Amino acid sequence: MIEYENLGKLNQPFFDEYTREFNKVLHNGWYILGKAVQQFEQDFAFYCNTSFCCGVANGLDALIIALKSFDFDDGDEIIVPSNTYIATILSIVHCELKPVLVEPDITTYNIDPLRIEEKVTPKTKAIVVVHLYGKVCDMQSILSIANSKGLKVIEDCAQAHGAMFKDIKAGGFGDFGAFSFYPTKNLGALGDAGAITTSDKSLYKIVSTLRNYGSNQKYYNDLVGYNSRLDEVQAAFLSVKLKHLDLINRHKRKLAELYLQGLKGDFIKPAVHEDYYDVYHIFNVRHPKRNELKEYLLQNGIKTEIHYPIAPNKQKAMCGIIDNQHTPIAEQIHNTTLSLPISFFHTESEINYIIEIMNKF
Ligand SMILES: Cc1ncc(COP(=O)(O)O)c(C=O)c1O
Repeated sequence: MIEYENLGKLNQPFFDEYTREFNKVLHNGWYILGKAVQQFEQDFAFYCNTSFCCGVANGLDALIIALKSFDFDDGDEIIVPSNTYIATILSIVHCELKPVLVEPDITTYNIDPLRIEEKVTPKTKAIVVVHLYGKVCDMQSILSIANSKGLKVIEDCAQAHGAMFKDIKAGGFGDFGAFSFYPTKNLGALGDAGAITTSDKSLYKIVSTLRNYGSNQKYYNDLVGYNSRLDEVQAAFLSVKLKHLDLINRHKRKLAELYLQGLKGDFIKPAVHEDYYDVYHIFNVRHPKRNELKEYLLQNGIKTEIHYPIAPNKQKAMCGIIDNQHTPIAEQIHNTTLSLPISFFHTESEINYIIEIMNKF
């Protein structure tokens, strides 16, 4: 059986380094906001080419804290892609803001800049873009709209660690980059973890205060904050993995290239453009008979996933929130997309086998 993902196998090459770094934290005895978090924040800001990084508890919190830092009024509108993972939309809802869905480009699966302006109203305050599946959005167009309309830009980089447009990395375009280090991500921890990147010192100060009960100085609370600190142990693991992130991304890109070259027939493959360095957190194809294809692959010993089976506005939780927004393009993607195995532990011969089986479908 070819698994879709296996976190033990994925992390196995790093076990010795993890053990060494874990032992350092264990013996050092400082378990909250200590040296390991500081080191990772410094390393990750350097990697993303931003001035600051603030470690938080997970990707959802990274988005919430970034949004919260702007002090928007309740009911202000935030533009967000209609085909994202629910977390992006939940962050907006949890901040008492209104998500306004914008449809994606059907070839890149990222928010379509041509559809943004028609959704901007006097209440619009920000655009939350999502670099879905590991491809950076069309940030030149998005930043130019944001600048002309005076909107803030938050990048949801949960699926795009190390992805680039030209030489700019995800997390380095907007006011903030919000990262998840959920274990399956390209830079995955061994539990929940997240971070916010920014090059604005005053915004950095606000988010780093918000993540720690609104406090910069023990027992003095300036803001209505959260407990959302990146864990020392996870930070130590993340610093280890960060050293190998480019290698992980290169491996995934090599496997993606095999799929791109090898798959024939009715499969709609991800778009490739020379200015974009895609990191394939997910490698998806679209097919009109997606469910049959998934079953056929399973019969042939290949496990796949669907990202995502239901559009956010069709989720029960979104009843009365965004269920009145019409999103035919998102639904088309959700109904036809299938994610193929592309983990760091998969071999080229496994991918060639998958291609051979798929081409007989
Ligand atoms: C696009 C996107 N945004 C946000 C998140 C939330 O991250 P976390 O699970 O770390 O809260 C995820 C996680 O899967 C995601 O894929």
